Amino acid sequence: VQEILKENSIANRFISQLRDTNIQHDRMRFRRNIERLGEIMAYELSKELEYENKNVETPLGSVTVATPQDELVICSILRAGLPLHQGILNYFDDAENSFISAYRHHPDNDEKFEILVEYLASPSLEGKTLILADPMLATGRSFSNVLKALESMGNPAMIHLVSVIGSQEGVEYLKTVFPENSKLWIATIDKELDANGYIVPGLGDAGDLCFG
Ligand code: PRP
Repeated sequence: VQEILKENSIANRFISQLRDTNIQHDRMRFRRNIERLGEIMAYELSKELEYENKNVETPLGSVTVATPQDELVICSILRAGLPLHQGILNYFDDAENSFISAYRHHPDNDEKFEILVEYLASPSLEGKTLILADPMLATGRSFSNVLKALESMGNPAMIHLVSVIGSQEGVEYLKTVFPENSKLWIATIDKELDANGYIVPGLGDAGDLCFG
């Protein structure tokens, strides 16, 4: 698990604005802050990709540059994954893209809920590097259900999970369901998860704050 807020950086300001009830109502700023964190995490995880030397001709000569070789697929979980997806795609601009839905269905109108996955559009993942993006990691069940739903698309060589805010419980749960070749990149982790499966203190519901 790479927790990026362990080190002080400008990311702290973005996450504090996401949490702040006086600021988070500004939907454009909320989405843009998630997007900016996606950019930062894309940069951080880019350091762990495979690099290959490439010769580049400049107007005045030539130079060898190490460039990433991974075949990347960015997959985000609707809805709240969309701004995070855009941030990651801003940096990995030639990546392939997948979209998948996951939502909490409360059949009996109480605290119990199941996660339903109803929509998936994805290229093959076989041998590729999968970046799975969802800004919130509460129970971890959306991530684990999505992993299951993606099985039919082939086996990725490496999985990078990208999230903004998580619960300690969700992080521990993911360690039990994701394969060895997976790594979690997350901006910050809160200790508590309440009876409704919400992260406390968290930031509220990222999907609603992004899109209403
Ligand atoms: C929220 C959030 C994550 C999920 C996290 O989605 O955006 O996708 O819950 O919870 P989990 O780790 O317990 O599965 P929600 O169902 O509110 O959908 P939305 O993004 O469309 O609002």
